[in-house]
Amino acid sequence: MDYTLITGATGGLGKAYTHACAKRGENLFLTARSQEKLEALASQIKLQYGVEVDFFPCQIQEENSRKALYDYIEQKGMVFFRLINVAGVDTQKAFLEYSQEKILLQTRVNFEAAVCLTRFVLSHRAQKAEILTVSSVSGIYPMPYFALYSATKRALVQFFSALRVELKNQNVKVTTVLPGGMPTRKDICEQIKGQGLWGKIATKTPAYVAEKSLQAVAKNKRIYIPGLANKLMAVCTKPIPLAWKMHFIAKRWCKISKDAF
Ligand SMILES: NC(=O)c1ccc[n+]([C@@H]2O[C@H](COP(=O)([O-])OP(=O)(O)OC[C@H]3O[C@@H](n4cnc5c(N)ncnc54)[C@H](OP(=O)(O)O)[C@@H]3O)[C@@H](O)[C@H]2O)c1
Repeated sequence: MDYTLITGATGGLGKAYTHACAKRGENLFLTARSQEKLEALASQIKLQYGVEVDFFPCQIQEENSRKALYDYIEQKGMVFFRLINVAGVDTQKAFLEYSQEKILLQTRVNFEAAVCLTRFVLSHRAQKAEILTVSSVSGIYPMPYFALYSATKRALVQFFSALRVELKNQNVKVTTVLPGGMPTRKDICEQIKGQGLWGKIATKTPAYVAEKSLQAVAKNKRIYIPGLANKLMAVCTKPIPLAWKMHFIAKRWCKISKDAF
C-alpha cells in the first residue's frame, strides 16, 4: 500500500497537511517526537476520514532514532508516493547565545533530517513520487539574529532545487514551500500580532499553506511562496542592496529572543 509520510505531523502545519492529505483519501504515515500526540492525531484522522494511518515517534535529529524509524517502515514493507518534510525548530536569538547543543539540534532537525529522510523515502518510493519540503520566507535573505534558522531554511531551498534537476526524468516532483507567518503556536501568534499591518496581510493559515503547496507540488513548481504579500516582498526587495536589507532585518530582529523547543 502507498503512503504519504509527514514529519512534524503533530504541529500546526503538520496537522494541516495531515487533514489535507487524508481528505484526498491518502493513507498516512506520521512522525513527530510525542507518542501521545501521534496516537491522538492518528485516531482522529482514521475516524474522520476512514484512511489508513500508521505512526512512529522519532527524535528526527538523532541517527539512531531515524534508524529505528527506517527499520519500522521496512518491516512493514511500506512504499511512499509523497514525503512532506515539515519538522522544524525556530529558535531566534543572537548566535553567541546559542549552546553547541542547540546549534546541532537546529541544524540537524531543520536540514540534515530532511535530507536523510528524503534519501530513505526515495529508495522506498512508489512509481511516482512527490517531495514537498517546508522552508520559510526567512530563507530568502540572510537574517541577523535569526541567522542559523534562516541559513538552514536557505539550505533546504538550495538542496531541493538541485535535487529536482537530478530527478527530472525519474517521475519525482520536488517542491520547496516558503511560508511567511502562520498562527500555529501561541508565541508565533504573539509575534505576528506584534508585526501590526504586515503581520495581518502576510499571515496565512496552516490549512491554506498546506492546500496550496500540495497543489504546487502536483504542478512540480520549484518553489512556492504562499500569499500575494509574501510573493511581492520576495520580488520587490530584490533590487535593494543586501547590506541595507540586513541592516533593516537586524534592527527589527535584535529585539526578539526565544527558544521554541
Ligand atoms: N509557524 C510559522 O509561522 C512558520 C513560518 C515559516 C515556516 N515555518 C516552518 O513550518 C514548519 C512547521 O512549523 P509549525 O509552526 O507547524 O511548528 P510547530 O507547531 O512547533 O510543530 C513542530 C513539529 O515538529 C516536530 N518536531 C520538533 N522537533 C522535533 C524533533 N527533534 N524530532 C522530531 N520532530 C520534531 C514537533 O513534534 P512534537 O509535537 O512531537 O513536539 C511538531 O510536530 C517548520 O519547519 C517551521 O520552521 C513555520
